[in-house]
Amino acid sequence: MGDATTAGRPETATVPEAAESAPPGLDEAGLRLDVAGAVATVTLNRPERRNAMTFATWRGLAAIGRSLPADVRVVVLRGEGPSFSAGIDLGMFSGGGGGEGFTDGSDAEGTDRFIAELQEGYTWLRRPDIVSVASVHGHAIGAGFQLALACDIRVVAEDAKFCMKEPALGLVPDLTGTKPLVEIVGVGRALELCLTARTVLADEAARIGLAEILVPRDGLDAAVRDLADALLAVNPGAAAATKRLLWQAAENTLDEQCAAERREQIGRLREVFGS
Ligand code: CAA
Repeated sequence: MGDATTAGRPETATVPEAAESAPPGLDEAGLRLDVAGAVATVTLNRPERRNAMTFATWRGLAAIGRSLPADVRVVVLRGEGPSFSAGIDLGMFSGGGGGEGFTDGSDAEGTDRFIAELQEGYTWLRRPDIVSVASVHGHAIGAGFQLALACDIRVVAEDAKFCMKEPALGLVPDLTGTKPLVEIVGVGRALELCLTARTVLADEAARIGLAEILVPRDGLDAAVRDLADALLAVNPGAAAATKRLLWQAAENTLDEQCAAERREQIGRLREVFGS
């Protein structure tokens, strides 16, 4: 019989170390990966560029998702320096470093494949075997805002500033952010935020649901650690099953969701009470 209360409890005293299975090229992609027990921390690590992201960054994020050790259950996304992320590296639009593969969209099929590959850097954060946590301080602009939206939970410091800048640059948010944004704030507010590209400060972010937890800047790391500890105290199978249920709830009818609950509970009962 499984132990529903203590399974997967974290070793909170474990010192983070570079993951042995870290994919190659993370440095050049502006990323760092530290794994401590069941917690993996992904750091956007180009502080001198306010953690602006290149195509390599998004490919690096996807590679981290693919190579994550099986016992990792919480993934924290954070930014080094004054900002979470200033979004796409604007230098790539003018042929700067990291912009190889930049496309003007004339090859629709090729561009579709190209963007789909970059989106993989974000979509894995919804996998049921992990809980992803964005630890946001300073600016979270464009692709940076979308990265925070791709995570399951956002812990936000009082100095955080969110801005969906893409339409102001003639583009659309295409790194998976439109769906969670609408789910969280509704279509009207999402339109207002995107089409004015205005900045949402931390207080408002908490009020409209963009921040699950709002903390003083100097309490951010501790708040994320406390959250990770609490998440890891839950049985891993129950956590994964519950995440599957909650993320499908909005799209299911009540009947479909009730059936999904029954299916998941049968699996839980077998694991917790079966012989
Ligand atoms: N790309 C490339 N370099 C960037 C950058 C970016 N997105 N954001 C900041 N930097 C660089 C600056 O050029 C500057 O470099 P130098 O020291 O060589 O001059 C350095 O980082 C520090 O920046 P600031 O001096 O501007 O720092 P700040 O703290 O005063 O301001 C900021 C920070 C508000 C984030 C400001 O830098 C800024 O507005 N950056 C641009 C944000 C932006 O428009 N991003 C694109 C969003 S759209 C998107 O992401 C998705 C898409 O598909 C289009």
